[in-house]
Amino acid sequence: MTELPAPIPTAGVAMTALGVALVRVRETARPDRLYADPLAEAFVAAARPAFDEERWSRLVELAGQFYDGRTLAVKGVDDHIREAVAAGCAQIVLLGAGLDTRAFRLDLPRGIAFFEVDLPELFAFKEPVLAAHRAQPVCTRHVVAADLRGDWDRVLSAQGFRTDLPTAWIDEGVLGYLPRVDAYAVAAVATRLSAPGSRFGLGRFQVAAAEPRYRALRELVQEAPGERPVNGLGPDGESWFAAHGWQTSFRAWDDLVAPYGRPGAMGGDPTVGHVLAVRE
Ligand SMILES: C[S@@+](CC[C@H](N)C(=O)[O-])C[C@H]1O[C@@H](n2cnc3c(N)ncnc32)[C@H](O)[C@@H]1O
Repeated sequence: MTELPAPIPTAGVAMTALGVALVRVRETARPDRLYADPLAEAFVAAARPAFDEERWSRLVELAGQFYDGRTLAVKGVDDHIREAVAAGCAQIVLLGAGLDTRAFRLDLPRGIAFFEVDLPELFAFKEPVLAAHRAQPVCTRHVVAADLRGDWDRVLSAQGFRTDLPTAWIDEGVLGYLPRVDAYAVAAVATRLSAPGSRFGLGRFQVAAAEPRYRALRELVQEAPGERPVNGLGPDGESWFAAHGWQTSFRAWDDLVAPYGRPGAMGGDPTVGHVLAVRE
């Protein structure tokens, strides 16, 4: 018998994963799509009944406001993972994996170990939906149901993570939800667990916290309205990695997304982009 999914949390950070799934549904439907994520629709359909009309409309509208940039970022991370694997990373750790399905949809070698770290309530929803669709990962997938503010590395190790293999660590929108001290604790754990050649990708940008769409996001997640708390790695993330045994390099967002041919989605600010840290 197929297990019924636990309802997706309709508030709190785990719910934000659904917003990104909506972005991937929209991209998948485009004839000129940059990637295809057919399972995103399955998550959205399973989640819809948990929301009332008003809350669902707000979520869909917000996903639309973030769509242009966020969908390019999904494609960017797809390519970043492919490059990391080509460079010898044998393990991938998605921090705050949400409803991501790269372990199912990317053309990865079978031998890659793919770890998804997220909160237990997220996986209580995600796993039964995957099972109901008989989704088969292309590589070895490990669910790490743990809070990044706690001893998640213990759960990661119990799932078979190896410190002797180069790892690609992906933060695709979770560290910004952690208090600064916890975000740096995650970076320190990743550093301790990283074999030479491991990679950690981080964004270099300032969230315009006062913009209406960020305010609406905070309200939907039900953070206290008003000032955004000091979150994530902040502007010192890059120098922290450089000081802790990582070689860092920077690529501007506009250069990264230019090959994807989506005019209008460019930022125009050459200081905004992606920092790649490679463990020495
Ligand atoms: C904006 S979503 C991004 C999800 C996914 N990376 C994507 O791009 O589709 C943020 C994710 O971080 C997870 N998250 C937030 N706080 C967390 C924590 N303390 N520990 C583990 N995961 C957390 C949420 O459950 C959610 O799935």
